[in-house]
Amino acid sequence: MRVSSPNKHHKTMRIRSLEDYTAAYRKSVDEPERFWADIADTFIWNQKWDKVLDWNFEDYYAKWFIGAKTNITTNCLDRHLLSQPEKTAIIWEPNDPNEPEIRLSYRQLYEKVCAFSNVLKKHGVKKGDRVVLYMPMVPELAIGVLACARIGAIHSVVFAGFSASALSDRINDAQATVVLSSDGNFRGTKDIAVKAIVDEALQSCPSIQKQIVLKRTGAKVEMQQGRDFWWHQELENLTQTDCEAEIMDSEDPLFILYTSGSTGKPKGVVHHIGGYMVYTKYSFENVFQYNEGDIYWCTADIGWITGHSYIVYGPLLAGATTVMFEGVPTFPDAGRFWQVVEKYKISLFYTAPTAIRALQAQGDAWVKKHDLSSLRVLGSVGEPINEEAWQWYYQNVGKNNCPIVDTWWQTETGGIMISPLAGITPTKPTYATLPLPGVQPVLLDGEGKELKGNGVEGNLCIKFPWPSMIRTTYGDHERCQQTYFGMYKGYYFTGDGCRRDPDGYYRILGRVDDVINVSGHRMGTAEVEDAINQHPAVVESAVVGYPHEIKGQGIYAFVICDGEAVAQSSIEQLRKEILQTVTQHIGAIAKPDKIQIVTGLPKTRSGKIMRRILRKIAEGDTSNLGDTTTLLDPAVVDEIKEGAKEFHTA
Ligand code: PRX
Repeated sequence: MRVSSPNKHHKTMRIRSLEDYTAAYRKSVDEPERFWADIADTFIWNQKWDKVLDWNFEDYYAKWFIGAKTNITTNCLDRHLLSQPEKTAIIWEPNDPNEPEIRLSYRQLYEKVCAFSNVLKKHGVKKGDRVVLYMPMVPELAIGVLACARIGAIHSVVFAGFSASALSDRINDAQATVVLSSDGNFRGTKDIAVKAIVDEALQSCPSIQKQIVLKRTGAKVEMQQGRDFWWHQELENLTQTDCEAEIMDSEDPLFILYTSGSTGKPKGVVHHIGGYMVYTKYSFENVFQYNEGDIYWCTADIGWITGHSYIVYGPLLAGATTVMFEGVPTFPDAGRFWQVVEKYKISLFYTAPTAIRALQAQGDAWVKKHDLSSLRVLGSVGEPINEEAWQWYYQNVGKNNCPIVDTWWQTETGGIMISPLAGITPTKPTYATLPLPGVQPVLLDGEGKELKGNGVEGNLCIKFPWPSMIRTTYGDHERCQQTYFGMYKGYYFTGDGCRRDPDGYYRILGRVDDVINVSGHRMGTAEVEDAINQHPAVVESAVVGYPHEIKGQGIYAFVICDGEAVAQSSIEQLRKEILQTVTQHIGAIAKPDKIQIVTGLPKTRSGKIMRRILRKIAEGDTSNLGDTTTLLDPAVVDEIKEGAKEFHTA
């Protein structure tokens, strides 16, 4: 087998100045294929591409590095085995600071991935099969992901905060054959019964044949003979420990990751190998200005896209040391993040605005207690960062010395799209600033007309493909076409509103569709409504987002209940039960912050709920609700306004 060696001049591909950025950006627009081919040349391929790009946004498809063959783990692992086998690839920090950390060198990680690849193979997992991972933030989660990639199986990580019902929906949609889980999950003071949740989910997942269970907390679990196997025992029983990487096509799927949209059913966003590989490494190195010797920590969970691209793939492709944290920001105290920064001398730190605001609320003393002088770059992701949080992060965490990269991107984009390059792009609080090379953003007005020039505001679209863009929604390509390319012909529509200021800088204004962003987690309002409606006493509900000091957006639910049910039980009892129902159907992350029981909803004569009105009421701004004359029953608005007072007097 011939393996092409990476281009020796790859260091010159790095952007080191604003001039470099401008030149790279221009080239990426003028000669996109040449631009990406030069970058792709710095990777290991079993076979090079015949053509860099083939695409059509009208009838959506985009293919990158057509005909090329590789395995992403060859680039994440084997490659570094030659040059830096003893370098630490992963540092794992446990939930409890008294438990020892784990450090895995590139060699150890390689060995563990190969070993577990063999376990998967032994259990019948083949190229193209779907494997679901529902696990705590432990090294085995990253190992499991990489083992799937090594043998060509498609991983689908489901965030371990989702409920059994949400998990089974995702398993069934992907028709997964194997699930990787654990006995429990330490989160702060809690020990979550992971295996029990998976077992409940599997009652309605006929496609699953095997469950491989990691022992983490020692919680007692039931093992179903023939279906359930202990992770450690499977490793002990192995006879073969090395595992050659399956040769994959650049356009073979790498993973599915479910995310919320404006309908009730989450969609399985599919990313393919070649383009995702090239883009995540390129964006990681350039946005964070990664240098050899940096210790990088992204506080996200691998259950979300941020963890996929910037805990696992991007950093490992770059040969970096990536920190994985099992715990939560406030356990055992609100200084936990800063203690970890001090402990490992973190230089690149990447977190979410909601965490920044939550820690800011705990007071500056927690930050001051720790030596944060190792920090060089701070990152923000997942939601718009407000000015106050930006300033606090910059001054108290970064000591006015670390550039903040406010990185805008999405599950669907696979990698960071609009962001400063650390220390290179002049930053402006709350602005994601400029697009990365290869990213061509446009702002469209309501009619789909491109807004030219600066000082404009519109719907953010992208008009040219980039390597890590979504390829399809699993099992339903039409949904992908309609959701992202149906709104504006010829453009990828992001769902975000955006301003381009007089300097040409981009500022993300938030979602313009029925998606809300709660603590950086995407929720479809329809998804939450569907869950609420499962409660037997609920007749109908409408969910909207409202500004929330810590979470960015909170969930406000207006719920119509059966009159008899209301008469029989107290409102408080009903609210409690509705919260339980949502936790059961989606997970605690989707629990509404406010539930207002109403007798009607503001509907047009055609039966459409006027969410604009509900949003205003939820915000506590009822002075100008706009035109309500088209409503079927305008009086209902007064009643809702009256009822909402309960939430706005405090
Ligand atoms: O609304 C934008 C917001 O998060 C959405 C994407 O969510 P998700 O797919 O879960 O991915 C989150 C992590 C990449 C976007 O449509 N968003 C993400 N980053 C930012 C942001 N909004 C403003 N500024 C950001 N930096």
